[in-house]
Amino acid sequence: MKLLNLGCGSRYRRDWTNVDFQSYSSHVLSWNLKNGIPFDDGIFDLVYHSHVLEHFQKSEAKPFLSECCRVLKPNGVLRVVVPDLEEIVSSYLSVLSKLRNGEESLEPCYDWLMLEMFDQTTRNSSGGEMLRHLLQESIPNIQYVLERGGKEMIDIVNSKKSYFHDSLKEMEHFNLVSLLRKIRFVVKNPKEIKRFLIKLILGQEYEAWEIGKFRLSGEVHQWMYDEFSLGRLLSQSGFDQIKRVSPFDSSLSEWQNYNLDIECDEKGEIAVYKPNSLIMEGLKS
Ligand SMILES: C[S@@+](CC[C@H](N)C(=O)[O-])C[C@H]1O[C@@H](n2cnc3c(N)ncnc32)[C@H](O)[C@@H]1O
Repeated sequence: MKLLNLGCGSRYRRDWTNVDFQSYSSHVLSWNLKNGIPFDDGIFDLVYHSHVLEHFQKSEAKPFLSECCRVLKPNGVLRVVVPDLEEIVSSYLSVLSKLRNGEESLEPCYDWLMLEMFDQTTRNSSGGEMLRHLLQESIPNIQYVLERGGKEMIDIVNSKKSYFHDSLKEMEHFNLVSLLRKIRFVVKNPKEIKRFLIKLILGQEYEAWEIGKFRLSGEVHQWMYDEFSLGRLLSQSGFDQIKRVSPFDSSLSEWQNYNLDIECDEKGEIAVYKPNSLIMEGLKS
């Protein structure tokens, strides 16, 4: 089996071909997928991407999916996982209606759904309002947030203590030695030198440069999909037998051996990695 995971982030398998903008492992090829997929035609049995397509602008999505089609063998499977616009909007409408009917306890759920809908699209710095929400000492209605966010949110909330610990330690020890250490870090790091020079040249316009750079970094959501729009796009990109699937099922019979959409939770029980996602597959005709 030749398996390709695009925009894998930290979720890669050593026996797959893995690609991401940023690679922190020799098992992940560093590549900007907006420049196409750097492999020959017809070589993969499965192309998989999870929570990646929404990071492409609307006009970039079809060329990217056509590239996925190109690198698949005939009858190869494309499996796409994205946030489910329909599910988020339905949850929002349901909570809004209950709030109107006086269920005030749902206010934190409403606030979280607003973050899911807008923060990931509008943020200008990494983590955005969502991360700020998760880093509060006490997260209102944490159970709801964790149920919707799954393993990814659980990991962020669990890492919160060490995050605070590190930044507090940094503040406590802010003295001449730490300042000199920071200066040494900047001087030794070519990216930081470049940033410093750009800041010097751009002056007040530096902020616009920094925001633009962040918005092109691949973190921001550029578009959203529901079953109808993703199905139509898959069909326009050269796929057949398009269907919605559960995290456990696939047209690829061997999927159970590779399943990237489920994880073991802290109790060792099987859990869906990103609940409420829309998962669709199509076959290369
Ligand atoms: C939300 S993360 C999803 C990571 C992983 N697939 C998962 O399901 O947890 C999106 C990933 O897509 C990557 N990405 C976004 N745009 C990309 C691009 N143009 N080229 C390569 N990777 C990209 C990001 O670097 C990031 O690792």
